[in-house]
Formats: sequence, C-alpha cells, structure tokens
Amino acid sequence: MRPVTLCVNGSEQVLVLADDTPLLFILRNDFGLNGPKYGCGLGECGACTVLVDGVAARACCLPVGLVEGREITTLEGLGTAENPHPVQAAFIAEEGAQCGYCLNGMIMTVAALLARDSQPSDNAITEALRYNLCRCGAHVEILRAAKRAVQ
Ligand code: FES
Repeated sequence: MRPVTLCVNGSEQVLVLADDTPLLFILRNDFGLNGPKYGCGLGECGACTVLVDGVAARACCLPVGLVEGREITTLEGLGTAENPHPVQAAFIAEEGAQCGYCLNGMIMTVAALLARDSQPSDNAITEALRYNLCRCGAHVEILRAAKRAVQ
C-alpha cells in the first residue's frame, strides 16, 4: 500500500492503495462514480470502460498503479444532465439502450473514437464497438445512436 495520486474528471485525489487494485473498484467505491459498470471483470464486455488520457480503457483490469498521474474520465466527466456530451445526447435521442448496463461502455467507446476521428465511417464505428457486449440485443439502436453522434 502507498499513496497514489489519481486525477479523475479533472479533480485530483491521493488515496492509499495497493498498486494492483483495479481502477474500477476505486472509481465506484472511493470516488462514488457509478457510470462505469462491473460486468465480466475480465476485460471482455466493455461495461467498465473509461478514458485514460482520452483513450478507451477497461477499468476492471487496469491496476491503479498504471494510471497514476494520468487523466481519467468517466461517464460522469463527459457531460451533465443539463449539458450532455454529444455522444450522450445522441444515445438519449435514439434511445440507444434496453436495460442500459452496457451503455457506459458504448458511450465511452464512441466518445474515444470521435476524439481521434471526428468523421468515422460506419465500418469504423462498428469496429470500435465490436468488443462492447450488449446482452439485450439493442445493437441496432446503439449503432444508430453512434452514427447520430457523428453528424
Ligand atoms: Fe470490464 Fe467487462 S467489466 S470488460
């Protein structure tokens, strides 16, 4: 255990942690950020996706020791209810979810894609979301929302 400085959604906190603690646990339990979800815990479903220096990353298997001093953004840091991020607004407009458990990962992954490519092709969107799982089968609405976010 040691003091670890984490910068989450623009604010810095020092917590005493073991380096190998999964970032997801710290975000949810210590920061009270419930946007990132615990799905598989194995890096396979994408429900826990956050941005690390703007790049999509799976927080369930990301040791906090590796993200010290880096800019971590969660769903809560993208936008607010009053002023949603364009990707959040697109998912709301298209009702791009069924149960909503996967929604965090879908939105964060699309936000990361648009940050590096403001006009991705349909194929690029599909490819970016390829490893984000939705067990409800809301893929049609999710892809429609992602495409709307590009416009
Ligand atoms: Fe992290 Fe599934 S909970 S990828």
